[in-house]
Amino acid sequence: MWPYPRIVAHRGGGTLAPENTIAALRCGLAYGFRAVEFDVMLSRDGIGMVMHDEQFGRTVPGLGSVPTTDAADLARLDAGGWFGPEFRGEPVPTFTGFVEYCQAQRIWMNIEIKPAQGFEAATGRWVAEATRDKFTAALAAGDPAGLPLLSSFSMAALAAARDAVPALPRGCLFDTLPADWQGQAAALDAVAIHTNHQHLTPALAQAVKQTGLGLFCYTVNTPERARDILAWGVDGFCTDRIDLIGPAFA
Ligand code: G3P
Ligand code: MG
Repeated sequence: MWPYPRIVAHRGGGTLAPENTIAALRCGLAYGFRAVEFDVMLSRDGIGMVMHDEQFGRTVPGLGSVPTTDAADLARLDAGGWFGPEFRGEPVPTFTGFVEYCQAQRIWMNIEIKPAQGFEAATGRWVAEATRDKFTAALAAGDPAGLPLLSSFSMAALAAARDAVPALPRGCLFDTLPADWQGQAAALDAVAIHTNHQHLTPALAQAVKQTGLGLFCYTVNTPERARDILAWGVDGFCTDRIDLIGPAFA
């Protein structure tokens, strides 16, 4: 049984707000969302920051990169102006601040470990330990519904997360499922497969579900496609179109 929300706002608020910001969470809440996917990368000084791209230029102005910039300097970058003038000055959130906001608003989290190149294990370990510190009560209670779900395209990051805090649930993220997806999930003691819905077929969905693993898709942006994959047995998905696909979509 999938203990997590079925419909999840991608990068905070999908395409309706600047991604991976507190403003995006506020936007999601305005649409009734209490479930979010977001990306975490380490700064130069080893602090988890909520950002998708390693390089500056798309969601924050200027030249530079997350792994070569200290957290305090990243936090001062404008992560909202690219999206619209009303979001100008929206900061790059710290992982800690972002999680605290989610907890205060009772927003469930799919935390994507997004390591900069060369920092796979360090990022996986840092995210697992920082998450553990924020979820001590839920970990003690052993209730999966009260825990976030960690996921990553980096199996090295997931292995480090598993070694650091084995009790935090993990999902293996694949664009296209590799031939040995089941072996990789088993090696990481994962609870779920996360995959690009565009490469999923009914037969593959059935094969995943038959193993007892959860199946989560990204990024599903039309109600028609959402209905199709849910009929295939997909347990949950994230969406950019929180205006078209509501949290109670079925
Ligand atoms: O976690 C699912 C999805 O977010 C993966 O792709 O590039 O949006 O992080 P991306
Ligand atoms: Mg992501």
